[in-house]
This record gives sequence, structure tokens and C-alpha cells, in this order.
Amino acid sequence: MSAVRVGVVGAGNMGADHVNTLHRWVSGAEVAHVADLDAGRAAEVAAGVPGARSGADPYALIADPAVDAVVIASHDSTHADLAIAAVRAGKPVMCEKPLAPTTAECVRVLREDRAADLVSLGFMRRFDPGYADLRAALAAGTAGVPLLVHCVSRGVTSAPGATDEFSVTGSAIHEFDTVPWLLDSPVVEVSWHAARPTPAATTLRDPQLMLLRTADGALTTVETFLNAGYGYDVRCEVVGEHGTLALTDPARLVSDTARTRATGYPADWRPRFADAYRLELQAWTDAVAEGRPTPLATAHDGLVASAVAEAVIASMHADGRTTPVRVPEVG
Ligand SMILES: NC(=O)c1ccc[n+]([C@@H]2O[C@H](COP(=O)([O-])OP(=O)(O)OC[C@H]3O[C@@H](n4cnc5c(N)ncnc54)[C@H](O)[C@@H]3O)[C@@H](O)[C@H]2O)c1
Repeated sequence: MSAVRVGVVGAGNMGADHVNTLHRWVSGAEVAHVADLDAGRAAEVAAGVPGARSGADPYALIADPAVDAVVIASHDSTHADLAIAAVRAGKPVMCEKPLAPTTAECVRVLREDRAADLVSLGFMRRFDPGYADLRAALAAGTAGVPLLVHCVSRGVTSAPGATDEFSVTGSAIHEFDTVPWLLDSPVVEVSWHAARPTPAATTLRDPQLMLLRTADGALTTVETFLNAGYGYDVRCEVVGEHGTLALTDPARLVSDTARTRATGYPADWRPRFADAYRLELQAWTDAVAEGRPTPLATAHDGLVASAVAEAVIASMHADGRTTPVRVPEVG
């Protein structure tokens, strides 16, 4: 079977990481083209892959006959238009989360005839070995009926200019996909709360706490703390009727020195989820090569996660009022 020739739009942190993963770790994939508005950055990233071309125009990449499938890893605000262009070109697309910052834009993508077949979403936690084991244990009833889920997403420092809303659409959106996937039950109502601010956060309220209720009656807390300082740290614990299930510390090394036992934290999400990105891109490539539906999150999953984010932001602007989640009809 010939390799799937992939074009990657966006050569920033995530795009460069996907290019490297596709090139070095994914069998059956070949990075053919990298595009970034910053042509120098695109060229620099493409230089790591012999034969890959680069440019500043993402639409030229999508139209390139040497590109079979597209990865979108550019700014959130560009995802909908680029996904639509890829769908119209008949090319499978793996779009980084979120599908779009608003549900109206997600609906615009889903109204494209072949969007349901061609668009996959980069909710990579579905491929993280820890989350996959957690989901399997829940399905097996290991801890009984799930009652509470506690999710924590902490980072070292927020991006310049990060807003209250970014903490929801940029960070908590992962949990808005992961929790319904773990529990097999959709989020039906939410509320948003903020602790007193830290001096490290000047442009947003941080940390934030969100409360989600799923249709099964379970309650989930989601903490986002973008300026936690000490490292990148993602946690998840499910409390069931008969016990608890939790992700373990993913560190591979423990050091015992000076009467202290210690493990390290990564500086950002890339090392923590390296296996998940690799497994996700491999699963996508295999499905594209075989012309079958991918096992990744779908465009509709992207719409649902954005609907939860919209309800959380509505609660944020209404003093934390409990707010129902409304998923718009695609029509
Ligand atoms: N799945 C995950 O864990 C995860 C983690 C981080 C970021 N992301 C998502 O990945 C995407 C990229 O994030 P990042 O951290 O790499 O950001 P980044 O700012 O490091 O890189 C974005 C790049 O996109 C380029 N760009 C912007 N608009 C473009 C356009 N129209 N055409 C071509 N290039 C364009 C920018 O020049 C920049 O180089 C975002 O959507 C983000 O939400 C996902």
C-alpha cells in the first residue's frame, strides 16, 4: 500500500510536533507539505523531512495534488475555514481541537456534505494509554456506578494575553470531550467558578473550577490552572459506588536523594501526551490508507464539546449560574 502523503497546516508547537511524529513514528505516513503564514517557520519544520515542500499558503497545501490528507494545527480561529476547504477538496482531515471556537462555526463545517466522513478531531486523550485503561475499567464496572469525576489540568504559565474564555476553549475543552467519552453519557448542565486570582495571572481569572453534570447523574469537577508554575500536570479520578479509579503519575523515573523521593513534571503537554499523539496519528493514517472511518473523535464530537464550552462561558458571564448545554441541530 502506498504511503498517505500528509500536508500539515501550522508549524507552531503542535504542528512541528505532528510533523516530527508523522515522520519518525507513524508507519505508512509521509509528510509532503508544511504551510504556515510564517514561511520561515514552515521551511524550518519541513527541513526536518527530506523531500517535504513548504509555503505560506494553507489553501495551496490543501489543493496540492501531492497531498492526500491534511492535518490542521494552526490557530483555533482558522480551523473551520480550513476544514471546509479540505472537505471540498475531498481530502481527509485531522483537525486539532477545537473544531472551531463557536458552535455556529462548527455547524458550518458539519453542513458540508462529506464532513462527517472526512473530518476527525484531535482529542488525543482518547488514545492516551492511561485514559484508555480508565475507560475500559469503567465499562467493566470495576468501581461500580461512577458518581464523581475529578479532573485537573495545570500548566506552568499561560500564553501571553490568555483570557478567561481561553481557559475553557483552549484547556477544559479536552475534558468536555473526555468525560462524556469515559462515562458514555453527555454533559447536560454546567456551572463556572473562579478562585481568588494569583499574581501570576494578569489577563485571566486563574484557577477556574467548572462543575459538569452528565445525563447519567454523575458530577464532574474540572480545575484549570494555567499558571500553576510547578509543571504540566493532568489528573483524573473517578469515584464509583465501590471504589475509585485514577490515572497514575506518568513519570518513568523516580529519584531518591538527600532523604527525598522525587519524580519530575514536563514543562508542557507534548511529552505527557507523546504516546497519545503517536497512537492517534497512526490510527488516523491507517484508516485513511484503508479508506475506512477513523476511530478518532468526529466533527460532531467537536460540535458537542464546543456546545459544552459555550454553556460554561455563558455561566461565567452569569455569575456562575447553572446553565443547560444546548447542542445545535445541524439541519
Ligand atoms: N491536542 C492538544 O493537546 C493541543 C495542544 C496544544 C495546542 N493544540 C491546538 O493546536 C493548534 C495550534 O496550537 P499551537 O500551540 O501549535 O499554536 P502556535 O501558536 O505555537 O502555532 C500556530 C501556528 O499556526 C500558524 N498559523 C496561524 N494561522 C494560520 C493560517 N491561516 N495558515 C497557516 N498557518 C497559520 C501560526 O503562524 C503559528 O506558527 C491550536 O488549535 C491549539 O488549540 C492542541
